Formats: sequence, C-alpha cells, structure tokens
Amino acid sequence: MKILIVGGGGREHAIAWKVSQSPKAEKIYCAPGNAGIAQVAECVPIGVMEFDRLVAFAKENDIGLTIVAPDDPLAAGAVDAFEAAGLRAFGPRKNAAILEGSKAFSKDLMKKYGIPTAAYETFDSAEAALAYLEQAKMPIVLKADGLALGKGVLICNTREEAREGVGALMLDKQFGAAGNRIVIEEFMTGREVSVLTFVDGKNIRVMASAQDHKRAKDGDQGLNTGGMGTFSPSPFYTDEVDRYCREHIYQPTVDAMRAEGREFKGVIFFGLMLTSDGPKVLEYNARFGDPETQVVLPRMKNDIVEVFEACIDGTLNQVELEFADNAAVCVVLASDGYPEHYEKGYRITGLEKFEDKDKYYVFHAGSKFDQEGNIVTNGGRVLGVTALGEDLKAARANAYGATEWVEFGNKYMRHDIGKAIDEA
Ligand code: AMP
Ligand code: GLY
Repeated sequence: MKILIVGGGGREHAIAWKVSQSPKAEKIYCAPGNAGIAQVAECVPIGVMEFDRLVAFAKENDIGLTIVAPDDPLAAGAVDAFEAAGLRAFGPRKNAAILEGSKAFSKDLMKKYGIPTAAYETFDSAEAALAYLEQAKMPIVLKADGLALGKGVLICNTREEAREGVGALMLDKQFGAAGNRIVIEEFMTGREVSVLTFVDGKNIRVMASAQDHKRAKDGDQGLNTGGMGTFSPSPFYTDEVDRYCREHIYQPTVDAMRAEGREFKGVIFFGLMLTSDGPKVLEYNARFGDPETQVVLPRMKNDIVEVFEACIDGTLNQVELEFADNAAVCVVLASDGYPEHYEKGYRITGLEKFEDKDKYYVFHAGSKFDQEGNIVTNGGRVLGVTALGEDLKAARANAYGATEWVEFGNKYMRHDIGKAIDEA
C-alpha cells in the first residue's frame, strides 16, 4: 500500500520511520517532510493546510492511507476532506478534533462526564474575567480557548500578573482569535505525564507513558517551547495510576465523545498531572505528541500500519499493543535563541554516525537540503537525538553520548533531560 504522511517535523519523522518498518508499506510519501524524513519517504512540496492539493495528490498517486499528524490541519477538517473524496485517512474528524481545538469544549466535556480535571470558569469578556480574579486564589492559570501553538497558557503567581495576562490574551490579542474566550483554572501541582492512546471511536489502546520538558532552559527555566526532550516510560506512571486512568479518564473520554455525537478516531494524547488527589487531566491533544512520539514509537513492537487501519475500521478491540521492556530518551538539539530569535541555514555534520546503529535514532525536526544538497538547519528545534537503553539511566547516557556525534552552528540543548529519573 502507498502511504502519505502529512507534516514535516520530528514527530512525523518518527511516524514515517515506524511506518517504513511495516511490510504493508510499499511506498511512503510525506508532505512537506524534511531532509531527515527524505531518508524514509519521498517528500512532496505541499503544505499541511493545502487540503485540495493534498487530496488531489492522494488520488493521483493511488494513496491507500493518509496519516494527518499536526493539530492545525486536524482542527480545520483535513480528515473530513480526504473522506469526502472517498479516501482513507487516520486522525479525528473536525468535530472530534475540537477536543484539542477548544479548551472550553474540553473542560465542559470533563465537567459534564465527571472526568477529573482542575476546577475552572470560562469567560467571553475581559471585564468578567477581571472581576472573577478579584476573589480567586493565586497562583492561577489562564488559557486561551483556541489553538495557540502550545503557548496560550499563562501561569500567574500574583493577582497583578493575572490581570496583565487577561489583558494580553483578551485585549491585546497576543494569540489572536484564540484569546476571544479564555478558561481560568485552578493551579495544580504534581508530576506531569504524557500518555498517548489509539482510539477507534469506541475502543482505546494505551501506549507507553512519557514525560516532556517544555521549558527552554535547564532546571525548567526560560520560556515554554514545543518540547526540549522526552523520556519513556515515566517512572511515576505506576500500574495503579494506569488502572485509575483507564477507568476514570481514558475510556470515559472516548465514551463521552461518542455520546456527544463526536466519535473520536485517531490518537488522543492525555496530558496528566499526578496530584495528591489522584491523576487529573491537564489537557487533551487530538494527535501524537512532539517529541513524545520520538520516544514512544521506537519502543512499540506492533506494525503501526495495522494499528492505524484498526482505528479507522473500528476493530481496535482485536489489537493488543506491545512495548519493549526498555526505555528511551530524546534530547532535542535546537538553534540557540529558540523559541524566540535564532539563525538557521547552518550545515549539519555527523548524521551518518547514526546509520545502521541499532537503538539510536536522529529524528529531524527542522532541517532541509541547501542548493548544494547539504543538510542545513531550518528551524528552532533541529534534531531529536533518541536512544534506547535497558533502563532510563542507560537510555539517557546513550542519548547524551549521541548528541556529541552531530554538530551545527548555534547548537543548543538542555543538559537535564530525564533528571526526574533520579528522583523516582
Ligand atoms: P497545556 O497546553 O494546557 O498543557 O498547558 C501547558 C503547560 O502549562 C502544562 O504542560 C503544564 O505544565 C502547565 N499547566 C497547564 N494547566 C495547568 C494547571 N491547571 N496547573 C498547573 N500547571 C498547568
Ligand atoms: N509535547 C507536547 C505536545 O506535543 O503538545
């Protein structure tokens, strides 16, 4: 079967690599892809929001399965566009991708169906939000309702900061229309865990847990980023936590979406906080996480194409996911200055050291070929250097060792990815 993957970052590289392991994958295309993805797929220069062109490409090239990976095209109805043309696509339809696309929707859903999450209120006017803040307990969390590249969340320690935050989101529109409506929610403390799951509308299959590091600098300092590194599994995600989440969070979420007439097929990513009152949902994403995927898929034993098809066909109950009893760590090599200002176009050297090395992967997030055919940096996050190991400590040592294999101008990384492992 010919397979098309929509997207062009580290997550899509990991998905394309995993798809390339499947005997069912005869030929893989990726739109738009990047210089690393080009090793396992043919990259086609079509943007992720160009639905007409994507659908036309899939028809012309006899694509049997399309995987839509990023949030924006999912929220805008990419899967609906493929289906309307009679094509098979993996991912939630627009009416289900709202689970990530609107924080107000997801909070209301959790409240209605008794799924544990932080207490909250929703506001459509800055006036009402400001009035509410006067008697609210600090710290407090402000969230823009719509998609804001993962940056529309403000954690405010004081009332003054919170007032300023409401101004930034609702009056100055720092995140555009995403801030027309905001959610104000209770601040929670605890360990964060990311859990990715496959869903076929009715059944759910849980992948290995992971943890992300969202801040730019060591010690969780600096600005929020798309993610600077991950490890899997999370030592804090115990069997007991898993049982609780399956019963009180995962299946109830799938059932709630069905009851609302928004049957969810695709990946639900549960962002959890393990609080002293038990696990609670921080956020839902309607897609694979980035860079969680880079540590979860190398540990998965299943043929991922079979799992994608089972999700589309509603036969996930016949699939058992299997994960290796090992661990993985991904360290993101970024351009210094990310997530603000940074330069790109630097030549990347040493990539060949990963070739044929079992248990080591270099997933490209932002790379491209220059005019001479050299691979150069092309983004804030450049590479996700990933290694397996028999346990988390071994995987971390392997991953940090491999970060030395590659060089490029402005190379920057955090040095404490997986530090929490030592506290477990
Ligand atoms: P979100 O995009 O909703 O996952 O929020 C981004 C990050 O903000 C999360 O990964 C948490 O670190 C933090 N965060 C979000 N909501 C809360 C909350 N209610 N309490 C504490 N931290 C939060
Ligand atoms: N790593 C967090 C995300 O993909 O949203």
